[in-house]
Amino acid sequence: MKPTDHRYFWCVILALAIWQPVFPQAAQRARQPAVQAPASASLKKALEGKFYLGAALNSHQISGRDTAAWAVLKEHFNGITAENVMKAGRIQPREGAFHFELADRFVALGVKEGMHIHGHTLIWHSQAPRWFFTDSEGKRVSREVLIQRMKDHIFTVVGRYRGKVHSWDVVNEALLDDGSFRKSPFYEIIGEDYIQLAFEFARQADPDAALYYNDYSMANPAKRAGVVSLVKRLQQAGAPIDGIGMQGHIGLSYPSLDEFEKSIVAFAGLGLVVMITELDLTVLPTPRHGGGAEISANFNYRGELDPYVNELPETVALAAARRYQDFFRLFLKHHERITRVTLWGINDGHSWRNHWPVRGRTDYPLLFDRNNNPKAAVELILSLTD
Ligand code: XIL
Repeated sequence: MKPTDHRYFWCVILALAIWQPVFPQAAQRARQPAVQAPASASLKKALEGKFYLGAALNSHQISGRDTAAWAVLKEHFNGITAENVMKAGRIQPREGAFHFELADRFVALGVKEGMHIHGHTLIWHSQAPRWFFTDSEGKRVSREVLIQRMKDHIFTVVGRYRGKVHSWDVVNEALLDDGSFRKSPFYEIIGEDYIQLAFEFARQADPDAALYYNDYSMANPAKRAGVVSLVKRLQQAGAPIDGIGMQGHIGLSYPSLDEFEKSIVAFAGLGLVVMITELDLTVLPTPRHGGGAEISANFNYRGELDPYVNELPETVALAAARRYQDFFRLFLKHHERITRVTLWGINDGHSWRNHWPVRGRTDYPLLFDRNNNPKAAVELILSLTD
């Protein structure tokens, strides 16, 4: 897009923002804002040489039922993450009974399209099957048994996709926002070294895959300090960690860009690569949940928490687009440290943010709208790469 085109684009946005109250449109459920960026260029091509642009795929997309989303994926993204189908509860719901069908398909699609394939996630307290931590009588297993189960799980899953999956979230969310250890069953049964063991098993299972620690609230200073000290201890102990994933479930007013930048710099300063792994931007009022992505935080639905059921006001759409642009400006500034930026979904309609931390809301968190049209953020991101 030429600079003159940008001026035209902004004039149109401004004009529509001003005229909107004069010409109210018939309300339909979750109508998209009238202003949508024309898809003037491919995001992945514009960002080529900077970092991969990834998207998380849900089961419908992986199974091929959602062909419209696939068209967007192929045009704009060059990396994929499985939103759910590689999590332990899905892939090994009972001990030794692996369900690989969708994960196989996910990997095959990535190979066919020549995309960067990221595995999410091996060791995580959430969406882990209960059997993992208990014996046949329902009692907690010993440290030895849990280590063996971790090893079997990692060897089987990572080993199956050896040479195809380029990188893995080996451990997800091991720390709380204050930087202390989450008292997960892994931590309680094995102790702190479950993290190191997980990394060692993953490296043994595929020596060529890049291995990452992934977490949310990473711009939070206490969490940043906790992650830095955890990684330093892992490095001193010789654990094979290659990078740090910053989930990036952000809002219009949190986290602060400055704090986010400090974390990118701090993590890269450990000699590791950094990824933004689960980017989405809620525009909805959120009940107090600390600004992170604590999966267990759930609040009852209330109408005032769901103000944009019929449509998103242009002012909010524009604020979200500009916020996306601010974050991408930061990512581009640090592109030498950042290897991948992954959106947690393709279009607004499928985003988990419609159901977390409050079920059944209408959110607008991604780069493409419910009809798979690019939102204003796409053009603003493209404008950074001219
Ligand atoms: C979410 C998925 O998007 C949802 O579909 C699922 O119901 C719960 O998990 N942190 C993570 C992701 O690491 O795996 C989570 O994904 C979002 C928070």
